[in-house]
Amino acid sequence: MGREVLSDNNLLFRLDSAIAAARGAGVLILDREGTGLGIESKGLNDIVTEVDGESERYIVDYLSSRFPDDNFLGEENGEISGRSGGRWIIDPIDGTENFSRGIPNYTISIGYEVLPGKPVIGVVYNPKQDEMFHAVKGGGAFLNYRPVKVSEIADPADSLTIVAPPFRSHDKAGIYFKLLESVFLKTRDVRRFGSAAQDLCYIACGRMDAFFELGLKYYDIAAGLIILSEAGGCYSSFTEGEDLLESGNIVATNGLLHQWYKKQINDIIVKN
Ligand code: 2AM
Ligand code: CA
Repeated sequence: MGREVLSDNNLLFRLDSAIAAARGAGVLILDREGTGLGIESKGLNDIVTEVDGESERYIVDYLSSRFPDDNFLGEENGEISGRSGGRWIIDPIDGTENFSRGIPNYTISIGYEVLPGKPVIGVVYNPKQDEMFHAVKGGGAFLNYRPVKVSEIADPADSLTIVAPPFRSHDKAGIYFKLLESVFLKTRDVRRFGSAAQDLCYIACGRMDAFFELGLKYYDIAAGLIILSEAGGCYSSFTEGEDLLESGNIVATNGLLHQWYKKQINDIIVKN
């Protein structure tokens, strides 16, 4: 599984630890299903459950005990910084709305970077479906330890697009649905899953071909980005010169379709 490329700097130990942490968090999350979830609102269409916090604490404690010099960025509890090591980027439940409704599309997302914004390890785990995606830089991408790669679809007319409306930024709905209508009419069909981390992995393993979404946070995508690129896929911001990690506006594809999707976005979003 491409492990030889990792042997020099403890990435292998970190990868195994991230997989174990994701599995442990998955057990914790599944145990809490159907119990009182302690749902609270963080903002428009933005909920958090007690389980999000518990999952993040479990992952941070697990990884901290093994790597006490490492830093952390988590969705729920913020940052632990100033330590000498690299940084873990954690979304303890990506797709909390799905989790709270018993829809089996939510994931635990754990990325690790040495240089800011350049993840070298990615683990995305769907506990409900027991699907573990992982990648390490230079080592390929895997689903349940089997290698995966992006689709070979090159004709947009044959492609399947992942839909992700701006449910927390309703001011962008008009432009988003205009873009979506245009893409929909030129492609095969669309799907909405509701976990950005999983969306990136679905392109990585060839189930879907393209995905675009506005305003994502780094913890939603860090792990998925390295999984996608190790599977041969491609990602970028919407426009040249726009910092993806700042805007959170991402287009991700199997690579073959990247310029086409980017042009659709430019033609509609950028020019309006
Ligand atoms: P969450 O479940 O961790 O909140 C759904 O499109 C996906 O987008 C989910 O992964 C959701 O993450 C994420 N997301 C987070 N913030 C968002 C935002 N401001 N706008 C749109 N999607 C967001
Ligand atoms: Ca989350």
